[in-house]
Amino acid sequence: MPADVIIGGQWGDEGKGKIVDLLASKYSAVVRYSGGNNAGHTVINDQGEFKLHLIPSGILHPQVICVIGNGCVIDPDVLIKEIENLIKSGIDISPKNLVISHKAHIILPEHIKKDSEQEKVRADFKIGTTGRGIGPAYMDKAGRSGVRMEHISDWPQWSEKLGNHIGSSQELLRNILDKNKNILLEGAQGALLDIDHGSYPFVTSSNSTIGGAITGTGLVPSDIRDTIGIFKAYATRVGEGPFPSEITKTDTAAKHLLNKGNEFGTTTGRERRCGWFDIESARNSIMTNGFNKIAIMKLDVLDGIKEIKVLKESTNNIKYDTLSGWKDSTYGVKNYYDLPENAKAYLSYLEKMLDIKISIISTGPERDQTIYI
Ligand code: IMP
Repeated sequence: MPADVIIGGQWGDEGKGKIVDLLASKYSAVVRYSGGNNAGHTVINDQGEFKLHLIPSGILHPQVICVIGNGCVIDPDVLIKEIENLIKSGIDISPKNLVISHKAHIILPEHIKKDSEQEKVRADFKIGTTGRGIGPAYMDKAGRSGVRMEHISDWPQWSEKLGNHIGSSQELLRNILDKNKNILLEGAQGALLDIDHGSYPFVTSSNSTIGGAITGTGLVPSDIRDTIGIFKAYATRVGEGPFPSEITKTDTAAKHLLNKGNEFGTTTGRERRCGWFDIESARNSIMTNGFNKIAIMKLDVLDGIKEIKVLKESTNNIKYDTLSGWKDSTYGVKNYYDLPENAKAYLSYLEKMLDIKISIISTGPERDQTIYI
């Protein structure tokens, strides 16, 4: 049976956590394949509000096995805290439903220190990292001097709490597929932050795109069925780097998106830069990942904006299209036909420009505030 992959199509924070939580019950396992606790998902469901950084959002479904794959880097202190917090909130966590690859690399305190030191040295060219030691941990991995989870017994304070969760996640996943069960792979960050395909050097240090889903789990390309791209109805970016459709911070539209969209980082609390949907960048993500389905998130955040702009071209000339906004609320709308006409026109415009079908539209943070097409 196949594996489906969820990948952020922009600069992260698209709302992947909600989609993973929605879909997870159909899968036997949910797997993180890249990054570390630079990621942050907020999931709101009938059990409460959960902020997850390392553990896949599937953990909120008791029957789902959650896996942190070999492509990830793990800060054991953060992981232990996340496990403890989830247990306090009533979520059952044991080695049966949380498995950590023995090949995943450990983020050590020195990596975190180096991350901030490197940013200081970069001065005006800083990346604006999350400061979680991600880059330096991957540098050690690539330099073949990293420490993997299989060596955790050197730190009894970590191995006592995490040791029983560590194993061969590749074999586990292969066995699940061999038993005709399905797997969902959960991307972190977004395609435009990919170390190879993103806006280098303003990127993260791993492959957040489809290639990372293969190397970061040990699955093979023929295991993959759907590759689902998650896009916000507009765009945001945290940290430095090019953002062609960025709106000036003082502009009314930027303030609207920031406040209505609550665009503050789950991990660092940083204010996100806000902008319009960027067609060229989205097309690039579709090409790099081979998305066969996409989801448009946070449509309701655009409610009340008089004129919605879309960046149509950015490589040679800057060209925007302007579409009419809508006054009526789309918040919580569950049926496509109940959307305001101009909202439907906006979605059709995106489908046409991107040449891809929208399968899911999100109109609010809750599970049922979703339209399936
Ligand atoms: P790092 O991954 O902490 O090294 O940060 C590199 C760049 O990726 C910075 O611009 C971060 O703001 C950005 N970044 C890393 N993780 C995320 C994420 O989960 N969402 C959005 N941006 C991220």
